[in-house]
Amino acid sequence: MSIDYAQLAKELETLGEDAQSVEDLMGRIVLRLQQRLPHYNWVGFYLIEKGRPGEEPMLVLGPYVGAETPHKRIPLNQGICGAAVSSGQTLVVDDVNSDPRYLACSLETKSEIVAPIFVKGSAVGELDIDSHTPAAFTDADRRLVEYCAALVGIYLEEFA
Ligand code: SME
Repeated sequence: MSIDYAQLAKELETLGEDAQSVEDLMGRIVLRLQQRLPHYNWVGFYLIEKGRPGEEPMLVLGPYVGAETPHKRIPLNQGICGAAVSSGQTLVVDDVNSDPRYLACSLETKSEIVAPIFVKGSAVGELDIDSHTPAAFTDADRRLVEYCAALVGIYLEEFA
């Protein structure tokens, strides 16, 4: 099945215009991505929670679709998720089982992409996608996932 990424990006932008809150926007994005992209088996957002004085900041799971994950709170120095948000870089991992940073969510997961969400130049969260297919994510996926992360960053800058 061929996927029209440009058309999907337009649909996602429209979702952003109709969203009632950032939670609503993230919920709509994860659903639409999973519906349209069969290789996106788990799709979820994490946002950084700063924590109280003396507590370390954490990535906290927000809207997601896919199997229940044990990783609902991830310290910024753990996992592929922590590495992406700490470095401010999109990470594409073709074989999660050969990456020592990987925190397993499902035994079926073979590859993963994580793109940070930026607000005023700082990473505040991320969009994380897992696939049951090895090396599932192409440059087109990277552009789409970064675009979705940017939609949430722009929403947070404008409305939060
Ligand atoms: N695999 C991630 C953890 C989150 S689950 O994939 C949902 C990681 O290594 O940080």
